[in-house]
Amino acid sequence: MDTIDKITAEIEAFKVNAAADLDNFRLKFLSKKSELQTLLSEIKNVPAEQRKAFGQQVNLLKQKAQAFFDEQKQRIEDAAPATGSLTDPTRPATAVKLGSRHPISIMMDEVCEIFERIGFTTVAGPDIEDDWHIFTALNFPEEHPARDMQDTFFIDQKPDIALRTHTSTLQVRTMEKHQPPIRVICPGRVFRNEAITSRAHCIFHQMEGLYIDENVSFADMKQTLMYFAKQMFGENTRIRLRPSYFPFTEPSAEMDVSCNICGGEGCALCKHTGWVEILGCGMVDPNVLENCGIDSKKYSGFAFGLGIERMTMLKYKTNDIRLYFENDARFLQQFTAAKL
Ligand code: PHE
Repeated sequence: MDTIDKITAEIEAFKVNAAADLDNFRLKFLSKKSELQTLLSEIKNVPAEQRKAFGQQVNLLKQKAQAFFDEQKQRIEDAAPATGSLTDPTRPATAVKLGSRHPISIMMDEVCEIFERIGFTTVAGPDIEDDWHIFTALNFPEEHPARDMQDTFFIDQKPDIALRTHTSTLQVRTMEKHQPPIRVICPGRVFRNEAITSRAHCIFHQMEGLYIDENVSFADMKQTLMYFAKQMFGENTRIRLRPSYFPFTEPSAEMDVSCNICGGEGCALCKHTGWVEILGCGMVDPNVLENCGIDSKKYSGFAFGLGIERMTMLKYKTNDIRLYFENDARFLQQFTAAKL
């Protein structure tokens, strides 16, 4: 019993300042060779009438030593500087990975913003359309090649329904619903049955513009498009209009902007001409106005259809349209900064 008292006092007096002290404590009080262990193995030699009381005391002492050890060990560990990656409060936080907007979406927003500044409203319409909105209302003759299966994706068993080949469908939808003055811009996805190359794809994006009012002239169209080109590509940008043909506009033109990649010197994107075509345009044909319920004697206007991929390639100086559809995150993430 004296030894028990002595060990109890020793435990109570024991100072643990560092991990090494803990080791000493374990050797002295908890190891096989410790005095306490000797006491434990002596329980069986104690005379029967004292054995129970003695045994209880020794076991209590053993619990006390173990509890003291556990408590001190915890204290030392808590006080030690953290080394694990999760518990080091001085480490910089892990960056949260933000998604990025697709360059085509960024470009469409930018075009809409530019036109909204001069009073245009953005509207949208369906990707799957009927023959009336894609062709007939837009003055396409019955035998026009664009109606051919080779250019247009028709819906099986429904010859009247197809994926829209251009956003000019929105001209018809807008004029059917609203009387002039009309000023709308219509971004959307379009589909054409074309071989996929670095310059062409079977899915791409267009932005239709429509301006109808009294006394709208070709000069108004030219000014509007010049304003747009300078806002989008910079003050030094030049435009050029070339005569063209569309069934729904008369007269019609195609507009080129000076090549932003080579600065007019000549490169692959501009096919060494210094100019890149970005849109088709023209004065809305009176037949189209009448098809959509608008008085062609009173009103006139212009329309244009911009190719979004072409403009994005020009603006961000990329040379392969397929990059926009492959969804390689390494490509797409580069465009975040431009908008944020
Ligand atoms: N819809 C024509 C195209 O897809 C572009 C265009 C739109 C031309 C409006 C004139 C007016 O090529």
